[in-house]
Amino acid sequence: MDIIQEIIQLKKERNAVIMAHNYTLGEVQDIADYSGDSLELARIAAGCDAKVIVLCGVRFMAETAKILSPDAVVLHPAPDSGCPMADMADAEAVKKFREENPDTLLIAYVNTTAATKSEVDICCTSGNAEKIVAALPKDQKVMFLPDANLGGNLVKSLDRPMGLWNGCCPIHNRITPEDIRQARAAHPEAVVMVHPECKVEVTALADFAFSTGGMLKLVKENPATEFVVGTEIGILHRMKKENPGKKFYPLENNPVCEDMKKITLEKIAAVLRDLSGEVKLDAQTIEKARRPIEKMLELSK
Ligand code: 13P
Ligand code: SF4
Repeated sequence: MDIIQEIIQLKKERNAVIMAHNYTLGEVQDIADYSGDSLELARIAAGCDAKVIVLCGVRFMAETAKILSPDAVVLHPAPDSGCPMADMADAEAVKKFREENPDTLLIAYVNTTAATKSEVDICCTSGNAEKIVAALPKDQKVMFLPDANLGGNLVKSLDRPMGLWNGCCPIHNRITPEDIRQARAAHPEAVVMVHPECKVEVTALADFAFSTGGMLKLVKENPATEFVVGTEIGILHRMKKENPGKKFYPLENNPVCEDMKKITLEKIAAVLRDLSGEVKLDAQTIEKARRPIEKMLELSK
């Protein structure tokens, strides 16, 4: 039996669903029951009644699925697949900040550990950050963590001050204004999209700064036939598959998130075979980390 047939059979036996982030390998997205951005995956996990969830993405995404679907067995096929940005906001440092700044509201990007989420007021994703921050009174003091680029883009677009934690996505932070200028020169007819994890000076040169889910929607709905894609290259798989008549150009910079690529078909089959790689969080962490995520889902309905 080949690996794909084996995964399909194991999935049935285990009453499992497979969810994959838009940056995972093409073959992983193809075997998944659902693929999406961080917000879409969180919403699916929240409404999921499967006994087993195989979360193909980085660790914080698997933790979010466990927090929102605590009765399910959540399997993470590559336990070493973390998000370097999530590690930039250590829970102890966030707790200390909170104690020293009791009048400041803490907004955490979902790219944070469960322990860090337990210390904050509201979560957001790149798909709903603008809506969530815009809903807050302008005189409310806010610290946005850990992504100073996403936070900086919000400060600019919403014209509201916020404290910014010193973190970033190393992959998106490497994208430069020159990369965008080069792409425009090479593809003058193309619509230019970037992820809001890019620096403010990079998003300023793009036509759109959207989450991965937002980009997928845009390329479907926009009548243009060429697009420059300023984010991790894994998303090109779905873009090409869903829009066969359109052309997509990655940046010369070739942004690759190695952590996302650690999820392979072999590892998915392995965790389904023996239910290994289970995400385990204690009940108190689940309860504390759930509150800011639920607030986010409520505010972004
Ligand atoms: P999205 O929510 O846009 O999928 O982004 C997640 C992420 O990790 C981007 O680097
Ligand atoms: Fe984290 Fe960046 Fe990878 Fe997204 S692309 S998972 S933010 S390191």
